[in-house]
Amino acid sequence: MSSGSIRRGNGHNYFASSDDSKICVVMVGLPARGKSLIAGKAMRYLAWVGIPARVFNVGSYRRAGTPQPNANFFDPHNTEGEKMRRAAAEAAVSDMLQWFQSGKGVVAILDATNSTKERRRWIHERCQEANVETLYVESICDDEDLIMNNILEVKTTSPDYKGQDPEVAALDFRNRIRNYEKVYETIDDNEKHFTYVKLINVGSTVIINQIKDYLSSRLVYYIQNLHIKPRSIWLSRHGESEYNLTGKIGGDSNISERGEAYARALPGLLKKSGVPPNTKIVIWTSTLKRTIQTAHHLAAETGFEKLEWKALDELDSGVCDGLTYEQIAEKYPEDFAARDEDKYNYRYRGGESYRDVVIRLEPIIMELERSENVIIVTHQAVLRCIYAYFLNTPQEQSPWMEVPLHTLIKLTPRAYGTDEQRFKADIPAVSTWRAKGTSAKHQEYPTEIKA
Ligand SMILES: *[C@@H]1O[C@H](CO)[C@@H](O)[C@H](O)[C@H]1NC(C)=O
Ligand SMILES: *[C@@H]1O[C@H](CO)[C@@H](O)[C@H](O)[C@H]1NC(C)=O
Ligand SMILES: *[C@@H]1O[C@H](CO)[C@@H](O)[C@H](O)[C@H]1NC(C)=O
Repeated sequence: MSSGSIRRGNGHNYFASSDDSKICVVMVGLPARGKSLIAGKAMRYLAWVGIPARVFNVGSYRRAGTPQPNANFFDPHNTEGEKMRRAAAEAAVSDMLQWFQSGKGVVAILDATNSTKERRRWIHERCQEANVETLYVESICDDEDLIMNNILEVKTTSPDYKGQDPEVAALDFRNRIRNYEKVYETIDDNEKHFTYVKLINVGSTVIINQIKDYLSSRLVYYIQNLHIKPRSIWLSRHGESEYNLTGKIGGDSNISERGEAYARALPGLLKKSGVPPNTKIVIWTSTLKRTIQTAHHLAAETGFEKLEWKALDELDSGVCDGLTYEQIAEKYPEDFAARDEDKYNYRYRGGESYRDVVIRLEPIIMELERSENVIIVTHQAVLRCIYAYFLNTPQEQSPWMEVPLHTLIKLTPRAYGTDEQRFKADIPAVSTWRAKGTSAKHQEYPTEIKA
């Protein structure tokens, strides 16, 4: 029973460039310009599409020697500070090149603050020697509100200011920015031979120069879709379906009576999750009846715009569509075992794998990044994939994540990650969730779910 023969040609990653290009993405910009946010998001996006990516943060190397420096440390005339900052940059670049050499790395993101032409030339040379392409991403921001917001985030979340008086921290941070401003050099026409992207006020204007390969162009396309306006994304599965009552998978059935009760409860549940007044939310569903029916009352009561996406349809279970897990285990025992062994890559006969779903969800993620408040009513496998993107869940874990029916998940993106809250509707439903290696059990949810 070799699972190899069952994994139907699923290995190819369409993102991997034909040549084995390696890319060092170098963040350029003053502090509080959203560089760490962009770096973190790009890394999560790459990991999600299956490209080994890692952030090398010069600040954390510097922090190892000087945990909580004050602004004077960043004064260009402070030679001791300058020596240590330089050592930190060198250590980060060396580790990065070693990571590439080990064969593990494809995209490294160098998150550093010192932005001078000389420093960029130096990084370019070091990368060129190691056969690594460089892509500079400069974030320029003159919108005072955006900068203030970033300063607030940094001083409340940065390890540099842990445990300090917020007012003192904010003042110090502003002085630090002033010290960087003294030496800061924007990317200009003399650097036309470099590959770069300049983002002005995150997303409002984008200048792109000399993008050469496919992977870089995907990455640049992703980065140019980002914005940092505050917003939330809500995720819900459809209400219990007729198929769920009998434990069948796939199909296009109606929602059950309890599913309909959830659909009626959804507007209230959304409100309970905390929606600021006058917030516009767009409702996204799949093209299948159970999600459209689940969003019906929400759309009717709120008047929110509603979009149906084919890309949000449930993972296609091919020949197993309409069967129960017990029937699948009986009819296709090898497939059932192979799916358990590598659920992410396992592709149903005539259907899809989780990897396939991630690829078709890519335009959805791009559109989500461009959008503000969105509530997505979709299916278990699709929801797991979207969730994995925001929460950086590893590929081998995401297909096993339990996403109960009749539960609303609220995600709020922050500078250093995503906040998550869950709201359960007091409406029971069946669960066909199955832990790895167990037989399919069809059961009612335990009663505490009603809490
Ligand atoms: C930035 O780098 C340049 C060139 O490597 C160096 O001369 C300068 O002192 C550095 N400044 C800061 C603030 O790190
Ligand atoms: C619910 O039913 C749908 C089909 O209507 C199926 O795709 C899904 O896997 C089922 N999930 C659960 C937890 O019952
Ligand atoms: C699903 O619901 C529609 C509308 O209520 C109804 O006409 C249809 O017969 C239902 N389908 C099934 C399979 O129950």
